[in-house]
Amino acid sequence: MEKLGEGKTKEVYLLDGQHVLLRFKDSITAGDGAKSDVLPGKGVLNAQTSAILFRLLERHGVETHYVGMEDERTMIVKRLKMVPVEVVLRNVATGSIVKRLPIGEGEVFQPPIVEFFLKDDTRHDPLLNYHHMRYLKLFSEEEARKVEDLAVKVNEVLKKVVEEAGFVLYDFKLEFGRLDNRLILGDELSLDSMRVRDRSGRILDKDLYRRGFPLEVVRDSYSEFLDKLRRVV
Ligand code: C5P
Repeated sequence: MEKLGEGKTKEVYLLDGQHVLLRFKDSITAGDGAKSDVLPGKGVLNAQTSAILFRLLERHGVETHYVGMEDERTMIVKRLKMVPVEVVLRNVATGSIVKRLPIGEGEVFQPPIVEFFLKDDTRHDPLLNYHHMRYLKLFSEEEARKVEDLAVKVNEVLKKVVEEAGFVLYDFKLEFGRLDNRLILGDELSLDSMRVRDRSGRILDKDLYRRGFPLEVVRDSYSEFLDKLRRVV
């Protein structure tokens, strides 16, 4: 099968003219690839978590690239022309925003804050505004507003299911692609791209890895989240 590309955590293969396979690897990385490890089983956990959440979003009327599963770590997805922008929605302040701005850890955003970043590890994913995105031919202002609305809709669905599973959704990152003039949600939705805490503040997401917790702790936590999601979806 023709390999179309490979990123830090996924491989992309051509299936047919309209579909590609996304194979989730067992690698885990942080700091724009500066830190990297292999965590056996992690690819399956993230593929399964993503599949559950994409299916849930589809049921709530959000169009995603998800079509089905080829095997336990490989999703069949619509072939999109990806836009190299990371769309981040934040309900609770943590991570880069508290380093960049005079905002305290744990402050609650109501309404949530949406930010755009250029997907560019060599430049450490710089923040973008509407002017940058128009100039760089990423999103027009109209598209950027549409993407913000989609992120808010995704948040309504994810926040609720994460709460039902017993946790709190701090933030998440989305990536979009184009297909026949539509903007469709692509990439993945997993603990690599979402921050989830329990009500006492215990971290379940990739921050465990970023902060140097043992790999088994990271895997157990990803697995616990998937189990609890399965009980409520
Ligand atoms: O680092 P920052 O606070 O900006 O991250 C916001 C959210 O986006 C977090 O959930 C993080 O895991 C996710 N993210 C990501 N990929 C990146 C940067 C951030 O999935 N390259």
